[in-house]
Amino acid sequence: MEESRPRAMSASPWLFLLLLCVSCATGVFQAGAQPDNKGFITIDCGLSEETGYEHNTTKLWNAPDAAFTDAGTNHIISPEYVVVSMAKIWYSLRSFATGMRNCYTLRSLMPGLKYMIRARFMYGNYDGLDQPPVFDLHIGVNYWQTVNISGPKAPYLVEAIVIVPDDFVQVCLINTGDGTPIISGLDLRPLKRTLYPHATATQGLVLVDRRNFGPTDANAVVRYPHDPHDRLWWPKFDGITWANISTTEKVENREDDPFEVPTAVMQTAIIPQNASQNIEFSLYPEFTPKDPSPGYIAILHFSGLQRLPSNALQEFYVNVNGEQLSSLSFMPYYLFAVATYNSLPSQSGRSSCSITINATAKSTLPPTINAVEAFSVFPTTNVGTVSQDVSAITKIKAKYQVRKNWVGDPCVPNTMTWDGLTCNYGIASRPPKIISVNLSSGGIGGDISASFADLKAVKYLYLSNNNLTGSIPDALSQLTSLTVLDLSANQLSGSIPSGLLKRVQDGSLILRYGDNPNLCTNGNSCQPAKSTRSSTLAIYIAVPVAVILVIVLVVLLCCFLRRKKSGSVSNSVKPQNEMTMSYAMVNDVCADSSLRLESRRFTYKELQMITNNFQRVLGRGGFGYVYDGFLEDRTQVAVKLRSHSSNQGVKEFLAEAQILSRIHHKNLVSMIGYCKDGEYTALVYEYMSEGTLQEHIEGMRNGACLTWTQRLRIALESAQGLEYLHKGCYPALIHRDVKATNILLNAKMEARIADFGLSKAFSNENETHVSTNTLVGTPGYVDPEYQATMQPTAKSDVYSFGVVLLELVTGKPAILQEAVPVNIIQWVRQRLARGNIEGVVDERMRGGYDVNGVWKVADIALKCTAQASVQRPTMTHVVAQLQECVELENGRVGGNTNNGFHSGSSDDDPNLSYDAYTTDRSTSVNQNSTTFEMEHNVIRVPTMSTGPAAR
Ligand SMILES: *[C@@H]1O[C@H](CO)[C@@H](O)[C@H](O)[C@H]1NC(C)=O
Ligand SMILES: *[C@@H]1O[C@H](CO)[C@@H](O)[C@H](O)[C@H]1NC(C)=O
Repeated sequence: MEESRPRAMSASPWLFLLLLCVSCATGVFQAGAQPDNKGFITIDCGLSEETGYEHNTTKLWNAPDAAFTDAGTNHIISPEYVVVSMAKIWYSLRSFATGMRNCYTLRSLMPGLKYMIRARFMYGNYDGLDQPPVFDLHIGVNYWQTVNISGPKAPYLVEAIVIVPDDFVQVCLINTGDGTPIISGLDLRPLKRTLYPHATATQGLVLVDRRNFGPTDANAVVRYPHDPHDRLWWPKFDGITWANISTTEKVENREDDPFEVPTAVMQTAIIPQNASQNIEFSLYPEFTPKDPSPGYIAILHFSGLQRLPSNALQEFYVNVNGEQLSSLSFMPYYLFAVATYNSLPSQSGRSSCSITINATAKSTLPPTINAVEAFSVFPTTNVGTVSQDVSAITKIKAKYQVRKNWVGDPCVPNTMTWDGLTCNYGIASRPPKIISVNLSSGGIGGDISASFADLKAVKYLYLSNNNLTGSIPDALSQLTSLTVLDLSANQLSGSIPSGLLKRVQDGSLILRYGDNPNLCTNGNSCQPAKSTRSSTLAIYIAVPVAVILVIVLVVLLCCFLRRKKSGSVSNSVKPQNEMTMSYAMVNDVCADSSLRLESRRFTYKELQMITNNFQRVLGRGGFGYVYDGFLEDRTQVAVKLRSHSSNQGVKEFLAEAQILSRIHHKNLVSMIGYCKDGEYTALVYEYMSEGTLQEHIEGMRNGACLTWTQRLRIALESAQGLEYLHKGCYPALIHRDVKATNILLNAKMEARIADFGLSKAFSNENETHVSTNTLVGTPGYVDPEYQATMQPTAKSDVYSFGVVLLELVTGKPAILQEAVPVNIIQWVRQRLARGNIEGVVDERMRGGYDVNGVWKVADIALKCTAQASVQRPTMTHVVAQLQECVELENGRVGGNTNNGFHSGSSDDDPNLSYDAYTTDRSTSVNQNSTTFEMEHNVIRVPTMSTGPAAR
């Protein structure tokens, strides 16, 4: 199996050692860290051998892990836990006693491709403490799973399927305070894009269980090479209630098969012993403390293994937790693999997942099943630091051998930002960017890395008190945002590059370079300077710098104290409009955001200029008017100026500014800056040229009517914005005034939620609501439960959003002005109760919609507007449902009415027209997971219960 060995491994041991040393020394661990010719990476963690070894049955090359991580120590499990037949991978492990986050970096991947990542853990009392750890796993910057190794004997295996956005992926172990994280093995397998359609750019899959029914060898796990993707198919049989059936014929995969179950798995199946009974089994999930009831996906694989006589019929229904997966029956196809599954994760919250397969009344044969897979889903929506910054700072880390906590993503999550870095998570700054690097007194030597010039957003660069030598790269002058460059107290030589001098002269850069004895500053005579001269130089430089600093400080003070005169200082060194918001009115944090975001601060005078003296009014509300304006760079903006007579106080106004400065999402209107200048307060937003959703629903904008596709998209996008408030912010934010006038549309008709003046954060973790004394909101949209209790919850927003959905479906306002004003919810419920969807849908769409899609949206809306908040879905659920509607609609508009991504069933055989679109009902699949691979006689405890069930 030479060809599967990583490249460097097959080189001579000396060369390899050399490479290893080089890589240790530089911190770049590229050598030997390549995928093999199939794109596989197989790592035996903690292996002390230098070259790795070939796995005895798969013939895959297991590489040692030194090339993939630069932390941790090697260990082997305690001898008492070694079982003779145990696969070698379980013997060794790496433990990470220091650092909150430690990562493995898997490189040379294809950005955008789907990968299966599998990790193994066996504690085996390696440390003699008899205390298995509990820790978290992340894939890149997204939480994957909590590993709770329940006992020293239990091998533990986890698997995820994700789309990897970059050409590398990091698997990180996070110390959560419950013991030292360990790992025994790590595998990466590329998957085709078309496989596992449930895994998307924003959602990953976590394996719950994967079973091969009626295996020919009851102890064997089917994997590579039988499964070219090297999935592990654990055997499942039960000689009492089930009979095994099998074939030696090949079971074909269709060309568009999204699962490609290997023929070795599909060749075996089970049927009930007693032909009149059902097939019934359960999967038990591991408890996941972070998300006690995640959404589950169940995928069931079928194939006919016997050619049926013409008068025979094998037809059955599939039930997951008592809910039928589809109203249509299912028929296996002779020697073809076909799957059925729920397309949306089921959220039933049950603690186990029971699957029942029962024959239809017409069926002459008992039901059957060949294989099952179950997954839970996890969001992969966190975005890592911009990749150019990552590669630049990684090179800097390698060059100077920075250790600190420099592992994983540099900026994300913000609780684990690399020491010495500051990142901007702000408006227009997604993905996050590095804005400050402090390596002062860092003990670094050598020349100044050219990679600093690749940190395009950096403002502050502190490299003082080191042993840096060589000349100062002029490329640094190209960093337009660079405001402070501190190179003092180093061994730099040569002269100061002209580009930097120019930046200093024009006042855009503060440069500190004192105490560099060999640096010359007058350009023409560059002999090594004498010490007397250099100290004068230092003073020469230090004094103006100090003076400038004092001026800046004074100016800043003036700016705060004498608000009206602030216009007069706009030419000082530091750009005046960059201020740090520090109102401590809301003390909490949103995901990927920081408390100290830089928002532009405007003076009243500037606003006058921007709005051309408040000439064009865009709209008005309780607070005053919104004006049209243009920034210096011609960016169009909307300026919301609080009028003095406004009933929205300064406090609410600033609360909104504060909230907006820390929430950033593509479906929330973004704030460009704010003004608090004397009695004037204003917020400056991005310009939303298409106005409010309300105007579009009423047909007030050029009389055109929104199409169904547009409505669906607006619904989904605004739902995503709200979901972010509820889930992306911690503690959650409640908007409290969701309505069609607070959903704005930009030129591309993209929807954003606006107006956070009434938004409130949950003040503490255990509180599920906030209490206030005044009822806020807009008639027609207010949650009745909130009205009764005065305690708004996230579900109050869900209620209001349901009303918006109804407006989108009907084209009618929240309160219909009929003879007696009637609430839109009642109006719709009454009509739908009569089964009359056409009587509800906005007739201006002239039938340009799919009735099923409209039903579904109406159904979501009615669930959102349920009287009791517990019956309402969460915004996460609403987003998932709407996503499904959008996909359905895209499929329809694409001219392909009954085909979506559910191609697990046949489209050309009407008998197999198993429509998964109707199957989004709850189908909670539980897991007892995964636990461990029964690899060569390590016996896996069967965890599925089976039992006969009468029909
Ligand atoms: C780990 O699992 C055990 C047993 O299932 C449980 O008692 C314990 O609370 C879990 N630990 C953590 C930190 O979740
Ligand atoms: C940079 O880091 C050094 C050492 O950790 C520290 O003393 C110094 O205050 C930092 N400088 C700035 C500007 O944050």
